[in-house]
Amino acid sequence: MNVCVVGLGKVGLPLAAAFAQQGERVTGCDINAALVDDLNGEGCPFPNEEGLAGALAEGRKAGRFLATTDTKAAVAAAEVVVIIVPLLIDEEHRPIYRALDAATEAVGDGLRPGTLVIYETSLPVGTTRGRFRPELERRSGLSAGKDFDLVYSPERVYSGRVLVDLKRYPKVVGGMTPAAGERAAAFYRQALGAEVRAVRDAETAEFSKLAETTYRDLNIAFANELALTADALGVDVTEVIAAANSQPFSHIHQPGVGVGGHCIPVYPHFLMAGEGSHRLAGAGRVINDGMAEYAIARLEGAMGPLAGRTIIVLGLAYRPDVKEAAYSSTLGLVRALESRRADVRVHDPLFSAEEIAALGLTPQGEFPAPCDAVVVQALHRQYRDMGIGAFQGCGVVLDGRNALPREEVERLGVRYLGIGR
Ligand SMILES: NC(=O)c1ccc[n+]([C@@H]2O[C@H](COP(=O)([O-])OP(=O)(O)OC[C@H]3O[C@@H](n4cnc5c(N)ncnc54)[C@H](O)[C@@H]3O)[C@@H](O)[C@H]2O)c1
Repeated sequence: MNVCVVGLGKVGLPLAAAFAQQGERVTGCDINAALVDDLNGEGCPFPNEEGLAGALAEGRKAGRFLATTDTKAAVAAAEVVVIIVPLLIDEEHRPIYRALDAATEAVGDGLRPGTLVIYETSLPVGTTRGRFRPELERRSGLSAGKDFDLVYSPERVYSGRVLVDLKRYPKVVGGMTPAAGERAAAFYRQALGAEVRAVRDAETAEFSKLAETTYRDLNIAFANELALTADALGVDVTEVIAAANSQPFSHIHQPGVGVGGHCIPVYPHFLMAGEGSHRLAGAGRVINDGMAEYAIARLEGAMGPLAGRTIIVLGLAYRPDVKEAAYSSTLGLVRALESRRADVRVHDPLFSAEEIAALGLTPQGEFPAPCDAVVVQALHRQYRDMGIGAFQGCGVVLDGRNALPREEVERLGVRYLGIGR
């Protein structure tokens, strides 16, 4: 099949490579001309994505992968079009549709009768049918359900292991019509070799993705609330959670200084923007967003006033081992430290000093380095490899992920603070 993937980012590019690996002829579309040139050469922009460089090289060699900036022409030549351009939120938590609307316009301009169009970006419930369908129909002069098929199928992968996850997790598929859903299910069985979970319609599929991610946000919020209680009681929450989870019905996540990335902290807002009751989803967001301030208040309680103290935040990334800073808890930690006039620096081996400074943060050149305190936000492999001795010159370690062995830190003569420990 001729498959067109619109949006060659951290998820779209591995998805395109996976289709090519299964034998489809894939044209990847992106507005980033430098990325497209790089991909048509020998480039692979995500070296930490397992298996991606090899899959792309294989696809190029077999003539099954090509990149372009001309989405309209690529869509006109495709039997299946998959759209995976991001949807982020603004300061008021409202979706910013600019990129997806532009992609939809380009797809609508190239759309021909008989094409299957699938949105994979996480969306507020009803967006495929209510927002994108009319625009596709207007630009193409075609009718969805009659002249072309329209489907929603959420992306459920984890950066760093996208190619494995694409085969491992069932592909949820919901069509605007039952026939569209069946066609998309057959497409994913062939083009991914994945198990397919067909649901009643596009709205059910959209909702399932928001349910899955909001569940994780709430689970973490519960762990965070347990941590606050454990601090008040003088109990170690990590022991509490491990003991509770020894009962098979209990699956409590771990507490921390916040939830980052462009999925978990964002999608509950998509849910809350729609119909229904969202008291719990809202409460979870408030709890998780409050953790950075809570942690820094505890640090202040332990150290006294933080004004003028040198404090290094380890990890700009929202989680270990990915170069991804979207909605990272580091931003909340830095805000809380700056409001106390601390001298805050951010260190991350995955980002250059320029990339850290571009976010308005002060980069820390080297780590280990002497300082009054260290806040562990993302314990990258580079930090794990350094060993505990790296914390020797720090007065206090605030272990924002409860990831360090407390006794070993304390043996260095360094004060240890965890979240609920
Ligand atoms: N990254 C993850 O871990 C993850 C996990 C699960 C689901 N997702 C879903 O995948 C979506 C995409 O995420 P990502 O991490 O791949 O994003 P990304 O930011 O890495 O990449 C997005 C790409 O889209 C391109 N783009 C923007 N506007 C475009 C347009 N009009 N036409 C063509 N290309 C355009 C950008 O140039 C960029 O290359 C997310 O919104 C989310 O719904 C992501």
